[in-house]
Amino acid sequence: MSPYGHLLAPITVRGKEIRNRIVSSPHATGWEHPGGLISDKEVDYHVRKAAGGVGLVMTFGSASVDPTTAASYGAIALWNPANEPQLRRLADGVHAHGGFVMSQMTHMGHRGSSKVALTPVRGVSDLPEPEHREVAEPLTVAELHTLAERFVEAALRLHRCGWDGAEVTSFALLIEQFWDPAINTRTDEYGGSLGNRMRFGKEVVAAVRAALPDDFLVGFRMSLDQRSGGRRIGTSTDELLTIATEMAATGDIDLLSVTGGDAMTRPALSVAMGSEFVPPVTAGDAAARVTAAVDVPVILAGRVNSGPVAEATLAAGKADLVAMTRALIADPDLPRKLAAGERVRPCIGINQGCIGRLYQHFPIVCSVNPAIRDPQLEHVPPTTRPRRVVVVGAGVAGLEAARNAALKGHDVVVLERAAHLGGRARLNAVHGWRPAWQQYLDHLAAELADLGVPITFDAAGTAPEVLALAPETVVLATGSRLRSMPGPLVDADEVIAAPPPGDGVAVVIDDDGGFVGPTAAAALAEQGWSVTIATPLPALAAEVDATQVRFVHERLLKASPTVIPDVRLLPDPGPDVVLEHVLTGAIRTITAPGIVAVAGHRQAENALRGELLAAAPALDVHVVGDARAPRGFDAATAEGALTGAAIP
Ligand SMILES: Cc1cc2nc3c(=O)[nH]c(=O)nc-3n(C[C@H](O)[C@H](O)[C@H](O)COP(=O)(O)O)c2cc1C
Ligand code: SF4
Repeated sequence: MSPYGHLLAPITVRGKEIRNRIVSSPHATGWEHPGGLISDKEVDYHVRKAAGGVGLVMTFGSASVDPTTAASYGAIALWNPANEPQLRRLADGVHAHGGFVMSQMTHMGHRGSSKVALTPVRGVSDLPEPEHREVAEPLTVAELHTLAERFVEAALRLHRCGWDGAEVTSFALLIEQFWDPAINTRTDEYGGSLGNRMRFGKEVVAAVRAALPDDFLVGFRMSLDQRSGGRRIGTSTDELLTIATEMAATGDIDLLSVTGGDAMTRPALSVAMGSEFVPPVTAGDAAARVTAAVDVPVILAGRVNSGPVAEATLAAGKADLVAMTRALIADPDLPRKLAAGERVRPCIGINQGCIGRLYQHFPIVCSVNPAIRDPQLEHVPPTTRPRRVVVVGAGVAGLEAARNAALKGHDVVVLERAAHLGGRARLNAVHGWRPAWQQYLDHLAAELADLGVPITFDAAGTAPEVLALAPETVVLATGSRLRSMPGPLVDADEVIAAPPPGDGVAVVIDDDGGFVGPTAAAALAEQGWSVTIATPLPALAAEVDATQVRFVHERLLKASPTVIPDVRLLPDPGPDVVLEHVLTGAIRTITAPGIVAVAGHRQAENALRGELLAAAPALDVHVVGDARAPRGFDAATAEGALTGAAIP
């Protein structure tokens, strides 16, 4: 009997039998959508999920119903008829693989951006949006009536193009902004009482339901926890539960999609797209209350991140279906693999590849699934001539290279200098703040074991040792080290691995802006040091994305370091630390600190390449990851995978 009896059971909604309870909830990809037009990559991406067995594929991020909300975040323009051919292709593709498909339909209200079109965003009131600080031009009553019609037009377009349904979204967007008394200061029939504040959302779903045929699914999406992450204003959860119940009671919606968190502030965002610092099934308790109170199927989203977690969520009656959105980014074959009892590539919930990049205005990738950026990795033909491949270095770049080369049929061995695999990812997992990296390392180790790839630990990794293995191809994934500079500097990695005790002043030079500097600072503070963080960036942890930066600040609260922004370390033999302001050139000196740890300032470690080629000039040698140029994990996994897959 399947351990996923609840998760893999079909459910019938409006006569449509959805093959399982697994949903990919709507999400933006940040991929190129000039003019809001749907790209081929976007179509293929959603079809791929259906091919992996997802029951209900919900598409796009904030797919806009009206040009007044089209100009931000590369949203898909549902209002644009030019999208119809791609919409048809997408629906046909999902259906061909046995899935159902619905699109999100949105107006972002004051969460949009005026920066692209330079026209004002349109919203409920003219109160500034807290995170993006946009001041909207309030929508008139007549415009609200027109907007409800725009939702209808978008839904009709989807229906014409063969879609199964559409989801009206309030979550962090215009409809939800109407509910929130901290935003909605209107004195007309859309402001004041809860009934008035709910009016626009109800009008939209009623209009869509009335205009669409009976077999078209109408969904509604909302947050159950606007005050998460310590936000003091926003609609209370009790009020949101009332709203959820009332929306379901309208009889106009077929699926109610609920989630925790919000996008009004970074702390709320950190809950909506919870990283490993947020417990699984984030809004499970509130969702359970809704599920018990309404008689439409409830979809729950928010860190339902593995088969067992999803099964337990459904078994406990917390929802009728579960969104497993990031889990499906990490492995679109998750439904098929769960059914077949195969190993699933885990979403490690670190967010830096997907939502983290989106909030930094970069297209999404996945830290553990390089095929999200490079889909060709899914169709690598087997080699016609297996060759001996030696991979030097068992960090994520080396392990991905080894896995992909072995998948092609090559005879692969891995050499690792340390006594364990994982490189800097392991450092993060074991000593840093990112334990979830270990799940990915365990996954890669299991994959290599299945593929019969041996890993030699405590290897010298010298040219003679490599050449003794008679390789035809060598992949160097030997990582990076601290660039040598004058002065008694130590690598922040070493401090994280083994923080020295002390009670003097410790300086952390954070050139990286990520987790490493703050992790080293916290480790030193725990050992008794009084810590100063100096960074050339304008703020602490400036490169950490919006969904996680809160956690860096929280973890450093106790350490309470002095932060000096906008400074760079000048070369100095010591013992003082001399800092130069990057804008004014002003000099500041910290006298003889007890320790100076440096995060960033890294240099590729790849001398072995020259040594190998000196001894064997015809050898095929590739350098990947930080060993090629220090960049970070997402680049390392992608480059390792692509290099392994490209060995002919
Ligand atoms: C990259 C990314 C983009 C997202 N964009 C949207 C969006 O545009 N609209 C929306 O309602 N939810 C969006 N979400 C939220 C997801 O639909 C989902 O609620 C969230 O990822 C939590 O579910 P999970 O833990 O299964 O990933 C996005 C999530 C991710 C990871
Ligand atoms: S980037 Fe990270 S959080 Fe996002 S889907 Fe991939 S593994 Fe999960």
